[in-house]
Amino acid sequence: MSRLVVSDVCKAYTGKNTTDSVVALQNVTFTVAHNEFCSILGHSGCGKTTLLNMIAGFERLTSGKLLLDETPVGKPGWERAVIFQDYALFPWMTVYENIAFGLEMKKVPLKERTYVTEQHVQLVGLAGFEKRYPHELSGGMRQRVAIARALAVDPHVLLMDEPFAALDAQNRAMMQNEMIRIWETERKTVIFVTHSIEEAIKLSDRIIVMTCRPGHVKENIVVDLPRPRHEEDPAVTTLKRRIRSLINKELEDESCTAKKNGL
Ligand SMILES: Nc1ncnc2c1ncn2[C@@H]1O[C@H](COP(=O)(O)OP(=O)(O)OP(=O)(O)O)[C@@H](O)[C@H]1O
Ligand SMILES: [Mg+2]
Repeated sequence: MSRLVVSDVCKAYTGKNTTDSVVALQNVTFTVAHNEFCSILGHSGCGKTTLLNMIAGFERLTSGKLLLDETPVGKPGWERAVIFQDYALFPWMTVYENIAFGLEMKKVPLKERTYVTEQHVQLVGLAGFEKRYPHELSGGMRQRVAIARALAVDPHVLLMDEPFAALDAQNRAMMQNEMIRIWETERKTVIFVTHSIEEAIKLSDRIIVMTCRPGHVKENIVVDLPRPRHEEDPAVTTLKRRIRSLINKELEDESCTAKKNGL
């Protein structure tokens, strides 16, 4: 049984006039297994965020099927946690309060809440920073808080939309390593949107390469390489070249909006 089934999913955003309509996704089909780390890779505007938002329950499908544990995806729920690029922390809450927030919403009793929050502070390496506010933290630390807050409610699926895109190269590499460590500890199903081929290869069990808009699956690649994965490893280099070529071929398509927009 797959954890997530995406079957023939289409999404059109309709404007006031028919000419305003945008077909973002067309017949997207793939599955993600339990505890699998799946990345979605593709040019700007190909519908990655749209797909993630539909899995999260923020957007409705136009047609097709989206099943989570064999049940059609509905409204947002605690079993699907979302981590955004801009962290989306509550600036008036401390690190501890931010991490505890979802547990409070879930009405977890105080004793358990305290235990789970402290565990997650430890998990993301923020012990000693519990009383700090988001503005007192670095970008990497803020993203750690966002990850801890998402994981604390024990979701089945973690949905991440370019979570490390705002970080500098050094912090980004560090957070990627942290992500692998946390994922190996927590074993969640992760859907991870990224523009970075290197990041996708470093992290994923599966990489969904999307076409330009309207996005559909260009290639569904299983990455069966041991972790940690090093850039100089020939298998990594070969895979990188293969994906780069797939992405570049997309740009050769005259209808590619990313090309038109110079992205
Ligand atoms: N709420 C909306 N209303 C109308 N059109 C939308 C809406 N959200 C997204 N779109 C359009 O759908 C297409 C896909 O957008 P989406 O944000 O999913 O792309 P993306 O792959 O996440 O891009 P990026 O890599 O730049 O974040 C784009 O053409 C976008 O303009
Ligand atoms: Mg996006």
